[in-house]
Amino acid sequence: MESRTNTVGWGLFVELDRESSIPAHVQLEVAIRDGIRTGRLKGESVVPSSRRLAQDLGLSRGVVVEAYQQLTAEGYLISQAGGYTRVASGVTRAGASPGKGAAQPASTEEKHLLDFRYGRPDVTQFPRAAWLRSLRKVLTESPHDRLNYLDGRGAPELRAALADYLNRVRGTWATPDNVVACNGFAQAVALIMPVIASNGVRRLAVEDPSDGDAVRIARAAGLEVVGIPVTPDGIDVAALARSEADAILVTPAHQFPTGCVLSSEARTRLLAWANDRNALILEDDYDAEYRYDETPVGALHGLAPDRVLYAGTASKTLAPGLRLGWMVVPDRLVDAIAALKVEVDRGSPVIDQLAFAEFLRNGDFDRHLRRMRPIYRRRRDVLIDAMNEQVPELDPVGIAAGLHIFAWLPPDLPEVEVIAAARRRGLMVAGIHDYRHGTEDRGGLLLGYAKLQEDMIRRGVGIVRRALDDVLGGG
Ligand SMILES: Cc1ncc(COP(=O)(O)O)c(C=O)c1O
Repeated sequence: MESRTNTVGWGLFVELDRESSIPAHVQLEVAIRDGIRTGRLKGESVVPSSRRLAQDLGLSRGVVVEAYQQLTAEGYLISQAGGYTRVASGVTRAGASPGKGAAQPASTEEKHLLDFRYGRPDVTQFPRAAWLRSLRKVLTESPHDRLNYLDGRGAPELRAALADYLNRVRGTWATPDNVVACNGFAQAVALIMPVIASNGVRRLAVEDPSDGDAVRIARAAGLEVVGIPVTPDGIDVAALARSEADAILVTPAHQFPTGCVLSSEARTRLLAWANDRNALILEDDYDAEYRYDETPVGALHGLAPDRVLYAGTASKTLAPGLRLGWMVVPDRLVDAIAALKVEVDRGSPVIDQLAFAEFLRNGDFDRHLRRMRPIYRRRRDVLIDAMNEQVPELDPVGIAAGLHIFAWLPPDLPEVEVIAAARRRGLMVAGIHDYRHGTEDRGGLLLGYAKLQEDMIRRGVGIVRRALDDVLGGG
């Protein structure tokens, strides 16, 4: 049996996953800590003896003792003279109760121990030592003036290093003057949308399916948004032409989420459309560095630097918490975007910018990518093999790239039910429904494999199998 869920008399809901690489005492600690934080386990209440809880949960007593000791050391539990243990008072957040705001996110993360959700690189592989070397170097060597307010485009060192890197690796046509550093792609979108809205863009086309955040930000900036269907060759350019949009947001190197590549014919037609309509192409190049079978196609930007506003991020290659992103902006829009960047936050943190510049310049970024590609490729291969073996009715599409696989569900299987069944079994997985902007099609799953060890990936696919069976069998 995969996992066992148990509600012990004490009101404690414990979901133990016997096959998890997370030790049982840690799983138990998480459940008890969560119960205390959310108020399910009341302050002052006496906890069951380690022997009884061990019996209820089918664990060895040592596991429970270890969990109790840890939580006592952390101050969640207090051991009393006479050998019993109680919940510390005052630990529950005021007003917190299951289902009430503040304490919920942690419990969701903790309860679902296997997470196939998209978008997370393996941050345990972050190149800390190399990053530290870059930090040390820039802190030692940068001129004092770099610590003042900077140009809205960012530190000159970073703009130069990014222009070099992007031109070399992604085939862009960047100069340090039209690079703008920002806090991830999220901020790129937040800066771009108001600026293009005040520069004459009225209707923005987006790929359907695609990420919804940009759509919300575009609408908030006053743009009308239209979804354009995605085919296996990328966006349907004929449908785009009919849409009368003035700008489009695309992911040409690796369509998000379906994983296809914009074909060379479609690239040509897209650029012709932009020229005919005097339209702007927003290119989201979020994960092109991870292509596992061949060299990725170059960025569209290189073909039409006046028509394409290019955006990239370190969130997939290094870590999302860095909040490092960049744009290569057509000359006519650079000043407006840089001015808005100054207005909203006076520029991104400069030490990070300088460290990243050094990291790019000294080759550490290339080295990191060379190290990570085989790791992710192996995980992807494990996922594909496990899917072929265990869930052959899923239909994976797209190229060998990035940090996720997208797979269609059989047409008769409702996506929401599959996702709910997986969750009940302790697996977080995303569906395609949330990425749709008007078109409807069969359901599909996004399986983010990058941060999972190979055995976790196999187990995750096993849970998908059981979730499908649950739905098929009406369970
Ligand atoms: C399509 C797409 N583009 C870009 C990003 C990166 O966003 P950010 O740089 O804000 O972390 C993501 C993150 O998941 C994404 O899904």
